[in-house]
Amino acid sequence: LVPGKKVAVVSNDAIWGIYGKTVMVSLEKAGFAVHYMAVPAGEKAKNMASVEKLCEELVDASFDRQCAVLALGGGVVGDLAGFVAAVYMRGIHFIQVPTSLLAQVDSSVGGKVAVNLLSGKNLVGAFYQPKLVLIDLDVLSTLPPREFTCGLAEVIKYGIIRDAEFFEYLENHHREIQQKQPDAMLHIVKRSCQIKAEVVEYDEKEGGLRAILNFGHTFAHVIELMAGYGKITHGEAVASGMLYAARLSNKMGLCDASTVKRIDDILKKNNLPRKFDFGGNEGVLKLFYRDKKVENATLKFILTEYIGSVTISEKVLEGRLVDLLLQDVM
Ligand SMILES: NC(=O)c1ccc[n+]([C@@H]2O[C@H](COP(=O)([O-])OP(=O)(O)OC[C@H]3O[C@@H](n4cnc5c(N)ncnc54)[C@H](O)[C@@H]3O)[C@@H](O)[C@H]2O)c1
Repeated sequence: LVPGKKVAVVSNDAIWGIYGKTVMVSLEKAGFAVHYMAVPAGEKAKNMASVEKLCEELVDASFDRQCAVLALGGGVVGDLAGFVAAVYMRGIHFIQVPTSLLAQVDSSVGGKVAVNLLSGKNLVGAFYQPKLVLIDLDVLSTLPPREFTCGLAEVIKYGIIRDAEFFEYLENHHREIQQKQPDAMLHIVKRSCQIKAEVVEYDEKEGGLRAILNFGHTFAHVIELMAGYGKITHGEAVASGMLYAARLSNKMGLCDASTVKRIDDILKKNNLPRKFDFGGNEGVLKLFYRDKKVENATLKFILTEYIGSVTISEKVLEGRLVDLLLQDVM
């Protein structure tokens, strides 16, 4: 990335309104020419129409391969801007400046970029690593509280899948975290990024291990589908999804009841949801077969053995799953 070249900052007007000037001034000071490219706020921006529009804008502004795209925003902006960077002229430099907690601990790390089709989320995408991920914890001060809580669900997930000590830290410091105390925030964001990076380094293209990052997500995708996208946030769906995954693990004799209780308690402490009304009928089962992990009509679940360890299981019986889902219709 050469000073003197152009940087296209992709963001939405709300985020640009708060942080645009700071980003622009610091880039200009470093010798870059800044071009702001606005996208609408929210998931609706993540589609092929936006990709085409942004690429046309890059052509109009004479962007070449030595220029860069910088994503300033949450996971939506990051996924969309990253996909544009991956395909424009077969790939130009890409930088992530994530502003939501979810984007800081999850979507900005690992190189998955994508947009949605009408038929489903993230169906068109690429593995495209950013040249730099720059995280400034101060931006979390303006993040809406519900978005902050959603990000915490993914942070808790890292403890469950990979690091019991980290999970214990989250149990013992939930007040400091809720108050966004700088030391606590630095620790949880840093450790989350480390865990994600470790897993992705080992398995970038999701041949095996990377699937453990989907702990709770099989349930979450069904919850999002049933609730209707936008009604319930992804993080909220992941929270209850993780508890269902833990309860399923317990039903299968993989983990003991105290593991389930610790997950239940930590979600409660962080005001995250722990249940979903799957509607009391067996029709819900077919929604589980839409999961990307389904191969040869076999359901695959990420299950926990104990806090800090998960395993991929193909042995979940449909009956057991239905029992679990119908057990606690609210
Ligand atoms: N690529 C990956 O590996 C990966 C992983 C997880 C999720 N995702 C994707 O991430 C997206 C969700 O990301 P998200 O939860 O960040 O949602 P988001 O990008 O929609 O951001 C949530 C809201 O918060 C606002 N916002 C963000 N930062 C702010 C700040 N500092 N101050 C004020 N407002 C701020 C945004 O404008 C938006 O309205 C989904 O599309 C999902 O598919 C991708």
